[in-house]
Amino acid sequence: MMDRNTLLSLLRGEDDSLLARADQVRRTVYGQDVYIRGLIEISNFCKRNCLYCGIRAGNPNAKRYRLSPEEILLCANHGYDLGFRTVVLQGGEDPFFNETTVCKLVEDLKTAHPDRAVTLSLGEQPKSTYKAWFDAGADRYLLRHETAIPTHYAQLHPADVTLETRKDCLFALKEIGYQVGSGFMVGSPGQTLEHLAEDFAFLSELQPDMIGIGPFLPHCDTPFAAEAAGDLDLTLRTVALSRILFPHALIPATTALGTLHPKGRELGLKAGANVVMPNLSPEDARARYTLYNNKLHTGAENAEQLDLLKAQVEAAGYRIVVDRGDVKR
Ligand code: 5AD
Repeated sequence: MMDRNTLLSLLRGEDDSLLARADQVRRTVYGQDVYIRGLIEISNFCKRNCLYCGIRAGNPNAKRYRLSPEEILLCANHGYDLGFRTVVLQGGEDPFFNETTVCKLVEDLKTAHPDRAVTLSLGEQPKSTYKAWFDAGADRYLLRHETAIPTHYAQLHPADVTLETRKDCLFALKEIGYQVGSGFMVGSPGQTLEHLAEDFAFLSELQPDMIGIGPFLPHCDTPFAAEAAGDLDLTLRTVALSRILFPHALIPATTALGTLHPKGRELGLKAGANVVMPNLSPEDARARYTLYNNKLHTGAENAEQLDLLKAQVEAAGYRIVVDRGDVKR
């Protein structure tokens, strides 16, 4: 781990070569390859009440939906035909998607295409549930820690959840054998550069396989409706630092980055990201899975328009590959 003062100076933008250095590291480890993941947003029912999130339980304006296991399988298999060798099932903490239901879903996905990786992003669960899903065939799990400072965690979440539990979940996932992804938002209310330095210290402890970082973006029906969005350049610097500190990590150019700026996705790739996660959800589900306002789900964010994404990625100097895209350790 880099010393804290160096880290802070890089976060402040005092080194103009940071992004280019990150791109160099990325090219050394992953060449010009960009891995694609087909994202299916399976449900926006959520029992949690995270203050930043548009699908929080306390948002009465959210139009709730839940895909059926049959719909999910159809979407995923269509994605396979398009070239997606990883499917990501993401959703709110919806009790419908319990241990048994998700086990069956993962088994069916693996039976249909054994060469496909399955990533789950279904929040905090008991370790036994994580284990059951892993044994059913799940390969990876995404669970951002959101912030590594307990008091800041408490500013972003209601009192029924703690940073400690979140960390326990992440270490449990690692122990079980998942490729584990964590990460955080840049510019969440109350966040300072010191907080970000602590986020990197936590990541060093966790040694995640994947690191998801995007700007905070306000949602009009949350307590943070009036808060400012995260800064583009600071977000890019955190992506670059992630690449430099964790050369082998799988790092997405996130939808939030693409939403913040028209060239956000390409800029993310040039700052060290090597993954993109276009949306495979049915059209009406996409519109309802609004974690923040104006969330992109058309154009290159649409898995159907892979050609558009390919062209953008190539214009940025990289190339999309048809591959599971596992972490290189
Ligand atoms: N702005 C940006 N990112 C958000 N997320 C949730 N709400 C927002 C928001 N308002 C992110 C969280 C979560 C991931 C699925 O989406 O970091 O882990």
